Amino acid sequence: MPKKVLIIYGTRYGATESTSEGIARVLQGERLDVKVVNAKKEKVKDISPYDLVIVGSGMQMAKWTGAAENFLKKFQKELSGKKVAIFVSSGAQALLEYEEKTEEIEKARKQYLEDKATLYNLHPISMVMFGGVWDYNKMFFLFRKTLESTKQVIEGAGFKEIRPGFYDTRDWEVIRAWAREIAARV
Ligand SMILES: Cc1cc2nc3c(=O)[nH]c(=O)nc-3n(C[C@H](O)[C@H](O)[C@H](O)COP(=O)(O)O)c2cc1C
Repeated sequence: MPKKVLIIYGTRYGATESTSEGIARVLQGERLDVKVVNAKKEKVKDISPYDLVIVGSGMQMAKWTGAAENFLKKFQKELSGKKVAIFVSSGAQALLEYEEKTEEIEKARKQYLEDKATLYNLHPISMVMFGGVWDYNKMFFLFRKTLESTKQVIEGAGFKEIRPGFYDTRDWEVIRAWAREIAARV
């Protein structure tokens, strides 16, 4: 019987959804039985069938999505005795790397991942911060206005506007390599 993996995610701009799907494809290629769930659209009632649970969330103003966080809260007891991996989609990471703000990256990593694991008493086999997207078309207008100047930083860091108002800071090689490593540890 193939081992079972649940990937459950929360997203605002779509990055965590496509990252989750990318991770799922790698795991399926490693013959794992994978279910991908959007935490906002589908309520998971039972996680006992899964050998590994991967929880992902997009970051906005240093906050997880409510749906992904609620999943951690609701299942904290079960998750603390299970193999868990967590990841976040961070639009800021690539920009901080470009600006060589190492301390801020470490601060973000701690706040987004380690503090969350501590809060819910999880012992993840892996915690990782991937890139994200900057989608100006989907932003609430005040955010769009405030973040207009960030476009210069995004482009300065070498990211191209893929379509009007849309940038993607993800490194798919990093994401796929992580998924392969996780597959080996289920
Ligand atoms: C208003 C706003 C605030 C953001 N705040 C953060 C942040 O605090 N840290 C971060 O790493 N990225 C931040 N980002 C970038 C997001 O992390 C990026 O858009 C990511 O793709 C979000 O995941 P999602 O696409 O799954 O929603 C922000 C983006 C917006 C529009």
